[in-house]
Amino acid sequence: MEWSAKWIAPAQEMGDVCPVFVKEFAVGEGVTKAELFITAMGVYEAFLNGERVGEYVLAPGWTSYEKRLQYQRYDVTGLLKEQNRLEVTVGKGWYRSPMPGWVNEEGKGARAKLPAGLIAQLVITGADGSRSVIATDADWTAQESPIRFSEIYDGETCDASFEAKEAQPVVCLEKDTQNLIPQQGEEIREQEYVAAERIFTTPKGELVVDFGQEVTGYVRFTVDAKAGDEVEISHGEVLDKEGNFYNENYRGAKAKLRYTCKDGLQTWHPRMTFFGFRYIRLDSFPGTPAPEQFTAVAVHSHMKRTGRLSSSNPLLNRLFSNVVWGQRGNFLDVPTDCPQRDERLGWTGDAQAFVKTASYNYDVEKFFTKWLADMAADQCEDGSIPHVIPACGTGSGSAAWDDAATIVPWQVYMTYGDPQILRQQFDCMKKYIGYISASTKDEYLWTGGTHYEDWLGLDAPVGSYKGSSRADFIASAFYAYSTSLVVKAGKVLGEDVSEYEALYENIVKAFRQTFTDYRTQTEMVLAVHFGLAEDLQKTADQLAKKVKADGEKLQTGFVGTPYLLHVLSGYGHTELAYTLLLRTEYPSWLYPVTKGATTVWEHWDGIMENGDFWSTDMNSFNHYAYGAVADWVYEEAAGIKPAEPGFAKIRIAPKPDARLEWLEASLETRQGLVRSAWSHIEENGCRKVRYEIITPAPATLVIGGVEKEVQAGEYVFFTDEKGSCI
Ligand code: BGC
Repeated sequence: MEWSAKWIAPAQEMGDVCPVFVKEFAVGEGVTKAELFITAMGVYEAFLNGERVGEYVLAPGWTSYEKRLQYQRYDVTGLLKEQNRLEVTVGKGWYRSPMPGWVNEEGKGARAKLPAGLIAQLVITGADGSRSVIATDADWTAQESPIRFSEIYDGETCDASFEAKEAQPVVCLEKDTQNLIPQQGEEIREQEYVAAERIFTTPKGELVVDFGQEVTGYVRFTVDAKAGDEVEISHGEVLDKEGNFYNENYRGAKAKLRYTCKDGLQTWHPRMTFFGFRYIRLDSFPGTPAPEQFTAVAVHSHMKRTGRLSSSNPLLNRLFSNVVWGQRGNFLDVPTDCPQRDERLGWTGDAQAFVKTASYNYDVEKFFTKWLADMAADQCEDGSIPHVIPACGTGSGSAAWDDAATIVPWQVYMTYGDPQILRQQFDCMKKYIGYISASTKDEYLWTGGTHYEDWLGLDAPVGSYKGSSRADFIASAFYAYSTSLVVKAGKVLGEDVSEYEALYENIVKAFRQTFTDYRTQTEMVLAVHFGLAEDLQKTADQLAKKVKADGEKLQTGFVGTPYLLHVLSGYGHTELAYTLLLRTEYPSWLYPVTKGATTVWEHWDGIMENGDFWSTDMNSFNHYAYGAVADWVYEEAAGIKPAEPGFAKIRIAPKPDARLEWLEASLETRQGLVRSAWSHIEENGCRKVRYEIITPAPATLVIGGVEKEVQAGEYVFFTDEKGSCI
């Protein structure tokens, strides 16, 4: 793409106010095509002759802007008239909002000094093939918009009765177009609309709207008002134990929506920011509000839904729904940890934990292809990976977090089968292994350094967020695992990986010599799942024993949890895996469900038995990481697994449990729809299990311990209750 356009910014600094850039122009007859190419330093919303251009919300999304700033292309042929007015409002967005929440005053000041830049060119093609271009330059104008303030964490202030005074000049910026790339990820769009369920008054006397579902996005409201009437809205995820509005867990994020009305009936929603919320408090609102006046609009990346899970257990179904809502709420252009507090960052550790589940629930190939390209762009000189991508002033070099560099591309390849993602990331993957090899204290292990360890593990010592598993153990285990993925990826790409094969063997040897015992659930999980224990079965048995001794409770944190049930059911402890899955007391996946969760929580006990909250400093009610359990349900309970990348060959080995009447999973793969369902039935006085399987590709079926090779097709089988094939 050739840019004749210049970056422009308002000549006069507008502070917090979002500028609108304006261009009026005429076009002759016979236009066959008009395309707008556009991006901004911030987020923008464009209108041509009063009509919104495209559906993209918060364009141009979030990338490592200095190196990769996406521009968008919109076909605007249908919006063009003889006399035209193009208006583009630019908000701070991720580019210029103070982020992360703990950025210091100096950092905030530096962000605030960045210009509200816009670059755009409208390419108009005539019937005779002629091309004319309307491009941002010194002839555009800028004026203040009704949006008086907008930041990612703090919310938005709009004055609908504001009328712009005269147009002001713009300046062209000394900035080239080297970093501009075409849109690579999915567009962010409005996706779901959740009607308000009820409006009620809390014991404290606050007027609160409940949407019945936590969403990420914004409130759209309608109000009949007089000019100057004020709307002020606060956002929250939960109520406290007295039933009052609560959002102390948002920490520094003010998450406020302020709106000054104009005369008459009007509908509004924030344009340049987003919130994570289930409840809103009407701090100020004209008249007597009714639920019909409020809609929660969920905004996220436009991904195709591909996977569905359901069962006979309503609590489990709510968990499945919470996992999906967790993904919706945190796949807003980058995979974020949470959508509400002063973070909302692309934490790598969370992404690698959840990527498999994510890739089954939705088609996330494009989404991760873009994010991984940012990872490669932001990789540190020494090969370590920033803890958050796009990098945002946090550190780098933590095991399990940085390993997103290998785990995410490998999973995307396994789910979708296109080696291109490995090609794109291979250098980044290798460089990351090089970082570990160069920075470890002991050769062939990963010792030393600072790690997040088994983050939020329940076996953490009092006062710590880090579980009791040994840091060097976890780091060395991931060193081995990531090296094995580099070997696999290299083989797919036809690269010489002998160096990594040798390295892998040495790591395994050193690991076995060094870590001769396994002390925690997470250590056992990793030793088995990564194939490091000398006797895998024995270690899995030891894990099962430990889980039982721990009261049939999980103790794992971010590192151990995603693999815990896989290890149990992979080595004959399926019943125990189900016990953990179906458990409703704390700690468990279903405990939050019993407490009314509509998304997945950061802590197993975000709300404790007695109704108290976990400390305000870190208590998100929309953190997808533990939602990783859904991939166990797809792969083990329902039994659908890719036997070859992209499901070109499938293994379907369902594992029923007597505590569920039925369970069903479906997955839209690149080959077509896979479905696996099982139910307990009674026939002629005989209890049986009935299996229904649809496979779009050759598959190995494992039913009742019997393996069968089948072609694409639909199959029904029965086993007796004990699971033997009949
Ligand atoms: C985030 C996590 C993240 C962690 C790093 C937290 O503040 O919300 O999910 O992975 O920091 O340990």
